[in-house]
Amino acid sequence: MTERWSPSSWRSKPVQQVPAYPDPAALQAVEAQLAGFPPLVFAGEARKLKRALGKVANGEAFLLQGGDCAESFAEHSADNIRDFFRLFLQMAVVLTFAGSSPVVKIGRVAGQFAKPRSAPNEKIGDVELPSYRGDVVNGIEFTPEARIPDPERQLMAYRQSAATLNLIRAFANGGYANLENAHRWMLGFVKDSPQSGQYRQISDRITEALDFMRAIGIDPEAHPEMRTTDFYTSHEALLLGYEQAMTRVDSTTGDYYATSGHMIWIGDRTRQPDHAHVEYFRGIKNPIGLKCGPSLDPEELIRLIDVLNPTNEAGRLTLIARFGADKAEAHLPALVRAVKREGRSVVWSCDPMHGNTVKAGSGYKTRPFDMILSEVKTFFNVHQAEGTYAGGIHLEMTGKNVTECTGGARAISDMDLHDRYHTHCDPRLNAEQALEMAFLVAELLKKERLAKGRPLVEAAE
Ligand code: PEP
Ligand code: CO
Repeated sequence: MTERWSPSSWRSKPVQQVPAYPDPAALQAVEAQLAGFPPLVFAGEARKLKRALGKVANGEAFLLQGGDCAESFAEHSADNIRDFFRLFLQMAVVLTFAGSSPVVKIGRVAGQFAKPRSAPNEKIGDVELPSYRGDVVNGIEFTPEARIPDPERQLMAYRQSAATLNLIRAFANGGYANLENAHRWMLGFVKDSPQSGQYRQISDRITEALDFMRAIGIDPEAHPEMRTTDFYTSHEALLLGYEQAMTRVDSTTGDYYATSGHMIWIGDRTRQPDHAHVEYFRGIKNPIGLKCGPSLDPEELIRLIDVLNPTNEAGRLTLIARFGADKAEAHLPALVRAVKREGRSVVWSCDPMHGNTVKAGSGYKTRPFDMILSEVKTFFNVHQAEGTYAGGIHLEMTGKNVTECTGGARAISDMDLHDRYHTHCDPRLNAEQALEMAFLVAELLKKERLAKGRPLVEAAE
């Protein structure tokens, strides 16, 4: 692939998962408008994230990535964003202190609107309509009108992303993320959960450490790294017209960056090496992700790495393994070995959600907590066996008290799913389940670091 790249060169390639917009002129007008809007994120921030991910690639930090499967227009509220952010901070603190590792924090947020679908149409009874492709494309209601792709939705998604990011920036930098507030991040409904005691112990330790530092003359007020946190955004860059419109040249380097989010990833259904998505991604300098599912073989993975990270830059490429609890052991080792053999620098992250979706007896799409945990354990075991680093975890989760995944310490059952099943797409871990997962991953991470004889780091980064 030595042809010239431009933000629009993907248009001459075959492309998967494209919505059928009825009015191409209206779509073009929206894309032109978006191209004139301010960037949502900045090249310098994307570079900073790439450096942080470079540390993950080198085994010196851990990646926590997570959020909604699909953000929605209907659920855009300050409370939702705050609850998600709080949960994220709690999980990061657990991984930092219990797992003894700095944590790179990336939300599936402020742009995670476009969804790939396994079928172009959805049938309910005798009625067949185009599938829902995320709020940035069409409406979730099962009516012919709602399912027509509407380009104006891209403007809504842009504005919602801007507002979400604005609040997140305020939370991250304005004092809310101050480690001294660690006690207060506990969400109301999690307070009496099985994890809350464990979490309280950690926040007590943080308070003690901060008191100690103050006593010896180190004032947190004088150390911005203790009052603020680096939090980044990410999404699947599926809708390439939108992404192209948000692509900008960085004035300091002359390089192209996707400014729709700090990190963007290629989904498991759109990673064909000679197709449009890979073409778009090869030209932008952001840190990027690539979902790796059961149909990816080692040769194709190396071919993709050749295209996506030709200079072998640490932190550029995160491989997100999503095989399913029953398939990970059969597929992951060969990929890990090939990458190691070829000397490629990557972050290996585990998405234990997308290969573990099952239909419950009650008819709901769900994911059993034990299957999720089982894939995570296999991921750590494989890396331990291959002498490589299990660098991160990628979760679908929400700060809300939903009932979408079964199991966990409260043992949500099939019969409970109908209580609060709110997702716009795939089932998410609720706040308690996500916090529980963070504690379990922290244990695995600690073991991994001890086995490698790495120093235990007791400070957040
Ligand atoms: C997703 O992350 O929501 C998704 C659709 O994942 P995948 O491409 O791995 O199926
Ligand atoms: Co999903």
